[in-house]
Amino acid sequence: MAKGAPQSKHSVRKAVFPAAGLGTRFLPATKAQPKEMLPIVDKPLIQYGVEEAIRSGISNIIIVTGRGKSSIEDHFDVSFELEHMLENKRPNRELLSLVRSVAADADISYCRQKEALGLGHAVRRARELVGNEPFAVVLSDDLIHSRTPCLDQLIRAFDHTGGAPVLALMEVPRTDTHLYGVVKAEPVENYDGRLFRITDLVEKPAPAKAPSNLAIVGRYVLIPEIFDSIDRTGPGAGGEIQLTDGLKHLLRTHTLYGYLFEGERYDAGDKMGYLRATVEFALRRPDLGRPFRDYLKSIKL
Ligand code: G1P
Repeated sequence: MAKGAPQSKHSVRKAVFPAAGLGTRFLPATKAQPKEMLPIVDKPLIQYGVEEAIRSGISNIIIVTGRGKSSIEDHFDVSFELEHMLENKRPNRELLSLVRSVAADADISYCRQKEALGLGHAVRRARELVGNEPFAVVLSDDLIHSRTPCLDQLIRAFDHTGGAPVLALMEVPRTDTHLYGVVKAEPVENYDGRLFRITDLVEKPAPAKAPSNLAIVGRYVLIPEIFDSIDRTGPGAGGEIQLTDGLKHLLRTHTLYGYLFEGERYDAGDKMGYLRATVEFALRRPDLGRPFRDYLKSIKL
């Protein structure tokens, strides 16, 4: 655990969920509905992320919202009407516990990002709620299926490094580097072969300018020093304040690591990625997997 980090069972207790983006890739579905509330099978995207955080030992959730995002707050709130109906008028124990479990395990607070000025800017908005301790960042449109929750894998690496920031990494085709933050990194000996020391980061580089094919995925374990670095970061790719650029600034004074996580990542903010996630999550569901597989096999288009 990092020197000076709080004494708790877990070295990382808080997770920030930026959720103020405009979701333009999913219009018109996201015109009046946050993209974080789009369902994969029957659960909104952001709930998958919150559950991953909880399974990684984090119960303090900070959601950075913006205008038009109030359904996220309602979703994680107690729904008296619904609970009353499922308890009395149309009793259904199973549905009742499902509805209750959404809000049960997490302590959720909200802050606002008034303008969508970029991911770095969104994370910066959470400074007061995070305070002076390490924290995770989860981008909920990066949906991850894995045996060990991706965040948990990062936290273990974070503890191993003695409290240095760790970013989730995956290999991408060279032609796709312009869609991601990309790092230059060298493998670290004596861990599990998946840990890298980062020597440079570039947000959304053209393939010819990419320092490698190791892309940043939307899971980070960060230290509070990142906030000052973001403050010193001007607009970057797309004219936005980029978290990747803030991390590049932090790299001047701190060691950063990347972890090639074990698991499957879906870009649920992209139409093809969203469809893949829907199909594969449905196929893995004990209640739907078999009939859905039979249905898919039967399609003649
Ligand atoms: C963000 C980050 C980028 C990262 C990506 C992962 O980009 O800025 O570094 O690789 O998430 O999904 P966005 O997809 O929000 O444009």
